[in-house]
Amino acid sequence: MAVLVTGGAGYIGNHTCVELLNEGYDVIVIDNLSNSSEKSLKRVEEITGKKLTFYKADLLDREAVENIFRNEKIDSVIHFAGLKAVGESVSRPLEYYYNNITGTLVLCDIMRKYGVTDLVFSSSATVYGNPKTVPIKEDFPLSVTNPYGRTKLMIEEILRDLYVSDNTWNIVLLRYFNPVGAHKSGRIGEDPRGIPNNLVPYITQVAVGKLDFLGVFGNDYDTPDGTGVRDYIHVVDLAKGHLKALEKLKESKGVLTYNLGTGKGYSVMEMLKSFEKVCQKPIKYKIMPRRPGDIATCYADPTKAREELGWVAEKGLPEMCEDSWRWQKNNPNGYEE
Ligand code: NAD
Ligand code: WQD
Repeated sequence: MAVLVTGGAGYIGNHTCVELLNEGYDVIVIDNLSNSSEKSLKRVEEITGKKLTFYKADLLDREAVENIFRNEKIDSVIHFAGLKAVGESVSRPLEYYYNNITGTLVLCDIMRKYGVTDLVFSSSATVYGNPKTVPIKEDFPLSVTNPYGRTKLMIEEILRDLYVSDNTWNIVLLRYFNPVGAHKSGRIGEDPRGIPNNLVPYITQVAVGKLDFLGVFGNDYDTPDGTGVRDYIHVVDLAKGHLKALEKLKESKGVLTYNLGTGKGYSVMEMLKSFEKVCQKPIKYKIMPRRPGDIATCYADPTKAREELGWVAEKGLPEMCEDSWRWQKNNPNGYEE
């Protein structure tokens, strides 16, 4: 079975490539390296002792994408490639719509031309907006508050329309909660460019001495300690969810949607304390104003993924923090030497 992984050089794509190779899949990656390094793919090969095929190409380059489908025998596609920074999407909406949506349209059009109709798509819990209650189930109302989130919701709708037009497509939409952690080897992990936007890389960069202190965005939310609560999920658990989704594609037609989360929420202060234990040092922080667009609490009901995919997140918070820290400590500058 050969799987085309778009965005395979990125954080979640990388970890998914490891799991795919370990399970005996042939892996073909397309990535334009706009937010990643080719070194990450070398490390995937080093970890697994197996080779993958890499095309450095942009999904917007139709000819380059078609060339891959002409050269390779592809059975399924896992589509990670996209821009993902919420704040940047507000200041550069056209780039986000063009890259994420047009990239997906080109990919799907060429898949259709070559008769490849099995697709797993990276969606996000962001499509639930500010939910009225938690835990969040897949049938909750959808709403988005920024261009990044809108690209995810639009792509979900495009893929549903595609299935209606031609029901030979098999599509799984995976809505990730907050991916953190890294592979046990400490060789691959999250490598944000510039100042991190997300909590965990920010904390680990403070712990390693690259940043002075963590700004805690608000301590007056309606949560047990006043700081925001999220469902952090280990990236290796998340990666394994994609293999379960690929298996599911083989047995059922249609568009299926699953939350990938643990079902547990942790606050910013709980995350900070957990990292302090793992790093064995205090991590400086300052309480700051709320970040615009943030919500108080967000965590998944992962029952549907357990019942229909046979998938559950196995790794708890200490392991998420240990693995994030090992990656950061061993690679203080990410993939740059
Ligand atoms: P990432 O930025 O590390 O990986 C995305 C990869 O796609 C990068 O390697 C980038 O170079 C590549 N890419 C972007 N546009 C491309 C294009 N036009 N052509 C070819 N390659 C392109 O991000 P990630 O954290 O691994 O996220 C993967 C997917 O999961 C994204 O679609 C993201 O929106 C989604 N997601 C991420 C999170 C998260 O918090 N990390 C949460 C929910 C959903
Ligand atoms: C987590 C908590 C912050 C940074 C984002 C996207 C979402 C998805 C995952 C792609 C919040 C607080 C953070 C900091 C802080 N990505 N925080 N100081 O906002 O839940 O989700 O990433 O789909 O779409 O919105 O994740 O890691 O940014 O924040 O206090 O420096 O940490 O306020 O409560 P978020 P995050």
